[in-house]
Amino acid sequence: MPDTEPPIVLICRRLLSAGRDRLAARCEIREGGLDATPEELVALAPGTTAIVADPSVAVGEELLDAAGEGLRVVANYAVGYDNVALEACRSRGIAVTNTPGVLTNATAELALALTLAAARRLGEAEGELRAGRWSGWDPGDMLGLELSGATFGVVGMGRIGRRYAELVAPLSGAILYTSRSPKSDVERGLPAARVQMEELLARADVVSLHVPATPETIGLIGAAELNAMPRHAMLVNTARGPLVDAEALARALRDGAISAAGLDVYEHEPNVPQALLDAPRCVLLPHVGSATTRARDAMAVLVADNVLAVVDGAEPPNRVI
Ligand code: DGY
Repeated sequence: MPDTEPPIVLICRRLLSAGRDRLAARCEIREGGLDATPEELVALAPGTTAIVADPSVAVGEELLDAAGEGLRVVANYAVGYDNVALEACRSRGIAVTNTPGVLTNATAELALALTLAAARRLGEAEGELRAGRWSGWDPGDMLGLELSGATFGVVGMGRIGRRYAELVAPLSGAILYTSRSPKSDVERGLPAARVQMEELLARADVVSLHVPATPETIGLIGAAELNAMPRHAMLVNTARGPLVDAEALARALRDGAISAAGLDVYEHEPNVPQALLDAPRCVLLPHVGSATTRARDAMAVLVADNVLAVVDGAEPPNRVI
């Protein structure tokens, strides 16, 4: 193939125009579209230099092999990259990139929104009203958890965990966090103390998850952890579905082992387990943590920057491996 042929980029599903237009100016674009099946992506892959994936696209050996030896980068349209088979990429010399930083505020704000929504049962309350079942002010109706003075447990003090801690700080009585290493800068600016997971679960009124899905964190919250939480406590997950055993969570909500939950992510998206749909005091959102125009546009730009850096033989700015 002559050198003048533009590199081919496979956008597996959809890249917003803020990034797509940058790529289209220099590359040939192939697009799977939002409904692309794994088989369709494999059929589109041969000859590509870059694959643009997102959390709903499993990038495994079959897709990498279908792309062939010219594939140089998998650019994930997300900060998380648990959908990408890292070892398979590493062994083939394929770079993997993500989109950190630009979605920190959006995701932390969504975690705060879910925290408030779950604490005050907003989903249920609005559902009752819309269904015409509101019969007037009732002093015993829709009682929830008041958060002023609450102890917030932040599991994972990376960018998003830290921003969440900053956002809840004005409400909080105390902030407990887990992290592989102490975060002295966080502790200087916030009333935050690093503790072991056991202590966080036992003491926090709100437990919010902000760690990636890795072999170490999958199943982080199961029946034992939920039972270790106070009965009035609540769980928020805006990180990744596999961190939480969904059946155990539904059971804990049904049995009153915890008081409420707010979830934005699920193990097999877009499928949401029926047990969660049926569970009481559970606010469920469709993975919209980073869904602000500002964040999604900035993520798209980072995707394009990462692809174009690799195309130009430069170090991509957000290389994971
Ligand atoms: C991410 O970036 O990992 C988010 O989950 C996407 O919204």
